[in-house]
Amino acid sequence: MADLEADLVIALRRAMHYLTRDDLARICNADPVQICEAVSSLLERGYRIEEIPGEGYRLIDLPEIIDDVSIKTLLRAEFIGREILTFRSVTSTNDVAFALGRSGAINGTVVVADEQKRGRGRLGRSWHSPAGCGLWFSILLRPDLSLPDSSTISLASALAVAETLVEEFGIRAEIKWPNDVVVNGRKICGILTEAECVGERVEFVVVGIGINVLNTKDDFPPEITSATSVMIESGVRASRGRLLSRVLEKFEREYMRLCNDGFSSIRPRLIGITTVLGKMVRIRSGSKEIEGMALDIDHSGSLLVRTENGVTLRITVGEVVRVE
Ligand code: BTN
Repeated sequence: MADLEADLVIALRRAMHYLTRDDLARICNADPVQICEAVSSLLERGYRIEEIPGEGYRLIDLPEIIDDVSIKTLLRAEFIGREILTFRSVTSTNDVAFALGRSGAINGTVVVADEQKRGRGRLGRSWHSPAGCGLWFSILLRPDLSLPDSSTISLASALAVAETLVEEFGIRAEIKWPNDVVVNGRKICGILTEAECVGERVEFVVVGIGINVLNTKDDFPPEITSATSVMIESGVRASRGRLLSRVLEKFEREYMRLCNDGFSSIRPRLIGITTVLGKMVRIRSGSKEIEGMALDIDHSGSLLVRTENGVTLRITVGEVVRVE
C-alpha cells in the first residue's frame, strides 16, 4: 500500500490540474477502489488533498509529520531507504531495526520515529527524543566488512550528517571523534552504531542517528546543558523529511565509498572536519582515563593520542573532552 501511496503522491505533485480517480488508477496501475483507499489513508496521515466532485483530486500540501510516503517522494538514493518504516512513537528505532534485522529485513531499511520513549545513547546513556523536535532514525546495513572495519561506518555517518548540515544550512558543524556532530562545542547529533555478529561474521549493523532539528533552548531538559539544534544554529524551521532525505543520500555515497575503496577514501575529509586534532584532550574509556594531544585519525579510524610521557596511544573507543 505504501508504494501505491507514494506513486499517488508523485502523480499528484507532477499534475498541473486535477486528476480523476480513473486518471490516478491508470497512472498508478491500480484500480479505482485502491485509489480511494490510498487517498483516505493519506488524508488520515495529514496530507492535504482536495477533492472536487466531477474534477478529481489535487495535492495542496505534504504533512509536517515524518512520513514514509513523503520521504520516498523526496529521496534519491539507490538502496538506502528502499524500505522505510515510520512510527509516531517507539521505544528506540535501534531496537526496531534490530528486530527487523533478525527477521531478515533488507539492506538499507530505514526506521524513523517522531518520538522515542527510551532513546539510547552511547556508553549506556539515554537519548532525549521528544515528539515533533528531531530526526530519530536507524539504518539497517548488511555490510561485507569485518567487525573492526564496520566501526568506520559510524565515522562515515558522522561525516554525512556534518557535511549535510554545512551544505544545507551553512552551520559550522564539526565532528567530535568518534561520531558526535557539534556546533561551537554543542552537540547537534549523536550516533549509536550496534552490530549483530555470529562468531567473527557481521550479520548486520544498525546505525542509529539522532539529530536535534526543531528544538528550542527550552525543549532541552536542564540536565542537558551542551546541546543545540538546527533551528537554534540557523534560525531555519527545517523540514525534517527533506533533511532526512539529504542525510540518507549523502550517507549512501559515503558508505559505498567505504565498502568499495576503504576508509582511506573518506579519511582526508573526516580529518578536515574533526574538531579535536591538535588539541589537548581527556579520554574516558571504561574505567580508564588518559590525557594527551590528539594527533591524528589513523587508517582504521582510531584516534592517535600522545600522552605527557611521549607515548602515542591508539584509541578505538571512548568519550573525548577537550582540556584547555
Ligand atoms: C550518543 O551520542 O550517545 C548517541 C545517540 C544516538 C541517538 C539515536 S536516535 C535514533 C537511534 N535510536 C536510539 O535509541 N538511539 C539512536
